[in-house]
Amino acid sequence: MEEKQFIPALRFKWLTPLYDFFISITMPEKKIKQVLISNANIYAYSKLLDFGCGTATLTIMAKQSSPEAKVTGIDIDTEILDKATKKIKEEKLDIFLLDYDGKHVPFQRNAFDRVISCLVFHHLDTDIKQTMLAEIFRVMNKDGLLLIADFGRSKSWVQRTLFNIIRGLDGFKSTDANARGLLPEMISDAGFENVAIKTRFKTMFGEVQIISAEKI
Ligand SMILES: C[S@@+](CC[C@H](N)C(=O)[O-])C[C@H]1O[C@@H](n2cnc3c(N)ncnc32)[C@H](O)[C@@H]1O
Repeated sequence: MEEKQFIPALRFKWLTPLYDFFISITMPEKKIKQVLISNANIYAYSKLLDFGCGTATLTIMAKQSSPEAKVTGIDIDTEILDKATKKIKEEKLDIFLLDYDGKHVPFQRNAFDRVISCLVFHHLDTDIKQTMLAEIFRVMNKDGLLLIADFGRSKSWVQRTLFNIIRGLDGFKSTDANARGLLPEMISDAGFENVAIKTRFKTMFGEVQIISAEKI
């Protein structure tokens, strides 16, 4: 079987157990995730996908915000999904988790009303970003909403400089389109409309932007 190529949550697999602690002390994590969820307008019985769910912090918050929504998380890394499974069990929540090959989102077209994703796209090379945005477009229903939180190009040179810490860690190739502020354009190119940066967060690793887009 072909080995999956991906950048783990904290760059090295052996750091994955520390991910939740690290992100909670270095980033305004809960605030970013709350704002993302409030922009996603998740409604009862809507079908939601968390793309690159990692340890499922955002997935759990989304389910808690709308308990009747049907929530699914996918990630390429089976190890991080084990951690996510434990957290979901502790919270006694009904969330479906799935690992996948990193190429084809394993769902039929029009399967989801909402797709959310936090801090994933800077882990993907530009061609993979394009492939995954096309896949997300395919599995999203008409009138669906996409909400992505990820690093983007800041107007502040301080924030742009700080983003080099993440670039050095996760790789200059996978972060290139983020640093150049190309993510919104790439989302439009995948077929989404009304693409807009809703909120910008200054962080110690550069600017995180919340981008919303619609499938009309
Ligand atoms: C920085 S973590 C973010 C995790 C989670 N979304 C959060 O906000 O806490 C990046 C995640 O992207 C996942 N990832 C990396 N490459 C991926 C790919 N090609 N498809 C889906 N997930 C991927 C990693 O396994 C990791 O869980």
